[in-house]
Amino acid sequence: MQATVRASPNIALIKYWGKRDEKYNLPAVSSISITLDEIWTETKINFSPNHKRDILTINNVQQDDTRRVSDCIDSICGEHRNFACVSSKCNFPISAGLASSSSAFSALVIAINQAVNKGYELQDLANEAGKASGSAARSMLGGFVELENKKNKIQINQLLQSEDWPLRVVIAITDSQKKAVSSSEGMKLSSKTSPFYNSWVKNQSEDIDEARKAILSQDFLRLSEISEHNCMKMHSVMWTSRPSIVYWNSATIECMHAIRELQKKGEFVFFTIDAGPQIKAVCLPECESKVVNILKEIRGVSSVLQSGLGQEPQIK
Ligand code: PMV
Repeated sequence: MQATVRASPNIALIKYWGKRDEKYNLPAVSSISITLDEIWTETKINFSPNHKRDILTINNVQQDDTRRVSDCIDSICGEHRNFACVSSKCNFPISAGLASSSSAFSALVIAINQAVNKGYELQDLANEAGKASGSAARSMLGGFVELENKKNKIQINQLLQSEDWPLRVVIAITDSQKKAVSSSEGMKLSSKTSPFYNSWVKNQSEDIDEARKAILSQDFLRLSEISEHNCMKMHSVMWTSRPSIVYWNSATIECMHAIRELQKKGEFVFFTIDAGPQIKAVCLPECESKVVNILKEIRGVSSVLQSGLGQEPQIK
């Protein structure tokens, strides 16, 4: 009745922003991501008839609110179950736009399935992870992952394994505080108020097709162009929500300019930004040290994390 699983977050190259179904947390758009390896969440779950309620600790701090985790366990095990003790450790800042919920919930659903021997298939578990956090479904696979929107569910497909195209990711941390507007609140607001929201949803399949082709042909410049464009479109939807949602700070913008300068010099690097102020620079391995050196000198960048592309979650 216990299991430990380590999973890595993923970073979307073609973003998800908006939901088509609140109850099952189904995304309004398909998305494409890369799974990382050097940064991870490790989650241990232990069910026991002796527990009086679910207990959740994150980085050794007991949490008052276990609702999202309890709902996820109920959804897989049913409500007539033993209570669980869930202990999760993360080697990177949480709730700061580094997709910690993607590694947390992909690790959790696999740990639950393993601990109670439910025998769920990968796609079912991806739907369970997605119910808790839309992006978590993509961390169920390694490498390059497409999350496809299907009728009443989602499906995840691996486009390439991490070894097939070993890109590097350099993450510039510009603020590690918890974000002011959660992704779910932000998505709700954008879908109700941004005049750009409908065209964002309508045009997503073109971006998905373009990125898929770029990935399958390992065409870095093609992937770079469509990923930056898609990121800027998502942030335009955020910015034009009412009230406006701006996750960037001045260092975020400085980093974007620095990456554009590197591109002009012929370096193979592009940026992407999620619901937070961190910059994620995706690059070819031979450009990594230049990208790190430039980003770490930018005022407001407190640290720089480096990662390769990783595997699906590992049961310990
Ligand atoms: O999985 P959530 O609910 O934290 O939403 C993630 C949304 C973005 O990170 C902004 C984009 C994405 O596709 O990961």
